[in-house]
Amino acid sequence: MPVRRSAALHPDPWRDVDAQPSAAQLAATLEARGRTPTQARLRRRFLRFVPIRRGARVLEVGCGTGVVLRDVAALVGRRGAAVGVDPSRVILALARRLCRPARGAARISLRAADGARLPFAAARFDAALAVTVILHVADPLRVVREMARVTRPGGRVALQDQDFGVIAVTHPDRALTDRIMRGVAARIYAEPWSGRRLPGLLLDAGLERVRLLTDVYQDTTLEPFSKSFLERRAANAVRFGLVDAAAAQRWLDGFTALVARGRFVLTMNYYGAVGVRP
Ligand SMILES: C[S@@+](CC[C@H](N)C(=O)[O-])C[C@H]1O[C@@H](n2cnc3c(N)ncnc32)[C@H](O)[C@@H]1O
Repeated sequence: MPVRRSAALHPDPWRDVDAQPSAAQLAATLEARGRTPTQARLRRRFLRFVPIRRGARVLEVGCGTGVVLRDVAALVGRRGAAVGVDPSRVILALARRLCRPARGAARISLRAADGARLPFAAARFDAALAVTVILHVADPLRVVREMARVTRPGGRVALQDQDFGVIAVTHPDRALTDRIMRGVAARIYAEPWSGRRLPGLLLDAGLERVRLLTDVYQDTTLEPFSKSFLERRAANAVRFGLVDAAAAQRWLDGFTALVARGRFVLTMNYYGAVGVRP
């Protein structure tokens, strides 16, 4: 099935990665995030929470370069299946290079598809996951309903997202920090409070026995992932006319000074929610 492309460029680059001049760079940020130790811990904790069992057939919607899928393939083992879909051909090309067969792990299959129109028969999977995807899609309920359709009765549908209403970061200028963080999130995402709504979305899609796991990404050293996150926020604040370039630079310099004095703290909440398909 051909992947449909939006005509106008949305402010959220993840809506249509292939239309971005920086598509390859976006793909690289997923791998950098995946390598960050706290991110690896919260990703694995989420997979245990679902849980992903040995021998299971698992679909990941919006699999990106395969960071989560490689963990899934190791967990389900050779008798299981790890299937990823993503609408971005740039990202899938990189995923194909990175998701090589690994000893004792399931072979990973990748397909180009939109989460709102999954190219699978009903009840095909034991579990369907979407990790930091729901906040980027135009119609989250439609995607979650599709995930439920392709999951077998008794199987799990599980979502994990950040919530941009709950980011805490040290900075001497609180007003500037607030203007940039809240202002940029409000202009990029249809629902910046994505994480906290995940249990409700699962219920709306007809899932049962819904459970919530809240986890926190914590950084005190300005990891490359946090640094690129803050730099993108600063660049977007200028792009959206929230601050001028000098204020954005002053804001970034404030973090560098805090790191040098051992006083930098960034925390970001991640919400995981899982439900059972009736
Ligand atoms: C932030 S990345 C997350 C990738 C991966 N799940 C991970 O955690 O590393 C979001 C991904 O969702 C994909 N995406 C965007 N819109 C989508 C849609 N409608 N259906 C499925 N995936 C979508 C993007 O192409 C991108 O690869």
